[in-house]
Amino acid sequence: MQTQIVNANLGENIKLAADVIRRGGLVAFPTETVYGLGADATNKTAVAKIFAAKGRPTFDPIIVHVASMEMLPSVVSAIPEVAWHLMNAFWPGPLTLILTKSDKIPDIVTAGLTTVAVRMPQNEVALALIKEAEVPIAAPSANSFGYPSPTRVEHVMADLGGKIALILDGGATQIGVESTVLDLTCSPPVILRPGGVSRESLEGILSEVSVCPGIEGEAFKSPGQMKQHYAPRAKVLLFGGKHREKVIAAMRERLKELKIGNQVGVMVPQEELYHFADDDVVTIGLSSFFTMEEVARELFAAMRTLDDRGVDYILTLAPPKEGIGLAVFDRLFKASGSQLIEVD
Ligand code: TXA
Ligand code: MG
Repeated sequence: MQTQIVNANLGENIKLAADVIRRGGLVAFPTETVYGLGADATNKTAVAKIFAAKGRPTFDPIIVHVASMEMLPSVVSAIPEVAWHLMNAFWPGPLTLILTKSDKIPDIVTAGLTTVAVRMPQNEVALALIKEAEVPIAAPSANSFGYPSPTRVEHVMADLGGKIALILDGGATQIGVESTVLDLTCSPPVILRPGGVSRESLEGILSEVSVCPGIEGEAFKSPGQMKQHYAPRAKVLLFGGKHREKVIAAMRERLKELKIGNQVGVMVPQEELYHFADDDVVTIGLSSFFTMEEVARELFAAMRTLDDRGVDYILTLAPPKEGIGLAVFDRLFKASGSQLIEVD
């Protein structure tokens, strides 16, 4: 199959894409977080194509995207008071809510669960596409399953080129990590995946919110809570600890060992790069831990770049788990196969 890439800023291309969706096809499109791979959420044959294109296991449910509150009754069967508060505060935006499912959403979307994940993205292209298609759009990230999510069209093309008909090119995404997934079917609400909306900002609306224990590395069984995810081909070694100097020293020590016989990459904030200035190492600066929004924006692209450079290992540093830093930590932790190397 030939994959066509078209400019998302032209109205005619939105119409073209909406037409593909209405006919049961797939379209990759930008959101404010990462690129999504969309299909008509009410069409089970169309949604099945998403699983096939991504190589995604059918037990992993998909987020349904809406463009207006009027679309909600076709996705969810009930909206609790707390959901309204959250939607008013954070939609459109990177917050996905788990609610009870409507009958109009086929089981394949939710992997047989009675709950459904729903969000309204804050991206003009995504919103225009959903409005034009006049159906809610089911869309996971537009990458091969388990690989880092796509923040640029090149990433979508690298993973899904030849497997899907159309990509709407809207440039690089703004946030760079996926939406926060918040389960409202339990009390208190649980963050199943930290993301673009921080725990702290949710606490401004909710009296209590807990973070899924899987994020801290304990076993937790819930769809999508895999131990290894968002992972490049290279093996990721994630270092953390209270004393930055000691952590850096441990990284340098490990680097020295690994360099014998391996190509090693180092992915750290700019302020720590100088510790690794060495010709046999592939270094990549991740903005700065003082501007974590930028780190989030660059993270997945940096992992892909290191893979493209052919490194066997990526040594990286755990960020503080505050604000969007929690989502950055989570992605690095999952990329490492849930193994944090604690240095004290
Ligand atoms: O930012 C995002 O959320 C992007 C853009 C495209 O919207 N989408 C995205 O989708 O990251 P995906 O499929 O890569 O991740 C969706 C996550 C998975 O971890 C999945 O297990 C979880 O949401 N999820 C979906 N439905 C669920 C449900 N009913 N209950 C619990 N978790 C659910
Ligand atoms: Mg994904």
